[in-house]
Amino acid sequence: MFVGVGVTCLLTSFVSCATPAAFGVLCNGEEWMDTQGNPINAHGGGVLYHQGTYYWYGEHKSDFTTAAMVGITCYASKDLRRWENCGVALSVVDSVGADLERGCVMERPKVIYNETMKQFVMWFHLELKGKGYSAARTAVAVSDSPKGPFRYVRSMRVNPDVLPIDMSDKQWGEMMQLQPKDYKKWWTKRWYAAVEKGLFLKRDMATGQMARDMTLFKDDDGKAYHIYSSEENMTLHIAELSADYCSHKGKYIRVAPGGMNEAPTIFKHKGTYWMITSGCTGWDPNAARMFSAPTIWGPWTQHENPCVGEHSELTFGAQGTFVLPVEGRQGAFLFMADVWKPKCPSDSRYLWLPITFTAEWTPVIMRPNVVSVAENN
Ligand code: GAL
Repeated sequence: MFVGVGVTCLLTSFVSCATPAAFGVLCNGEEWMDTQGNPINAHGGGVLYHQGTYYWYGEHKSDFTTAAMVGITCYASKDLRRWENCGVALSVVDSVGADLERGCVMERPKVIYNETMKQFVMWFHLELKGKGYSAARTAVAVSDSPKGPFRYVRSMRVNPDVLPIDMSDKQWGEMMQLQPKDYKKWWTKRWYAAVEKGLFLKRDMATGQMARDMTLFKDDDGKAYHIYSSEENMTLHIAELSADYCSHKGKYIRVAPGGMNEAPTIFKHKGTYWMITSGCTGWDPNAARMFSAPTIWGPWTQHENPCVGEHSELTFGAQGTFVLPVEGRQGAFLFMADVWKPKCPSDSRYLWLPITFTAEWTPVIMRPNVVSVAENN
């Protein structure tokens, strides 16, 4: 049963998607145009609301490769439907061996604003050029203006030599007994059990933990968190950022150890933290997963797939990237997702789906054709 059925179409009135690319109408899965009539190129993105404007940051994708040939783009909008291209917020560079060398991988950028430093802070997933996905690093860049240009700061693995706060002494003892040489064969039952106990966590303790798919979350108290797929994509971590948001504070938990979650998105509603993720099937869609917790530090409980209706078992062909709280509309959230087209990455499409809630306030996601927002408070 759904509450809040007084659905208000914030972004459009009742229009159909029969005429694709009609200006100012965002039809899920169709090409979305910016105010100059060019396709919006901002994939795996996130949105920041700042002083009356939404800023959408995403991966610029080219026609033939999923590697970064341009960098992170920024679009601005006052109404979530007319998006002005603000250009490249963080550019690749042409110096050989540089972290951001053209052809590296820059994925899932997210930006938050630091009130104290009066600075916009961007985090993203970085893979070094020519090294596939083996670097598993996260990177940070800052800017005084939301549109950028952002100044690249550094890349890193996360929280070296720090244990998660949710690991008991007993669990720590069990982890310390794990020997990588005993688990050379992956995907066996005993290998899974070892991964859950921290096989990779232990392996990466000295160098810092792997960080691939990611998002950021800024809580009401101003504390910010980096949520990322770690431990060979087998386990999510939630790690608190430092006061300036530019590094990790050294406090983190593991979520769903061994559960293979990617594409984390997170939001808070009526005091509950919700996280919607995907499974690990690369560019191919799979069923979304959902977790909730009473505090950011857990305990996190897994729920059913929040998606319902036709093709919900494949997240309607998409993979989540961000949950956007609609400004001034308590309880209105958009689940932003990407329909990946790895053969022509620039043609990947967007689905922005309203999150509705059951009578018990459990999130539910359906796929309307036109982007609209349901009010649920
Ligand atoms: C997906 C991930 C994307 C990208 C891709 C590479 O699972 O969510 O951001 O990393 O794998 O294969």
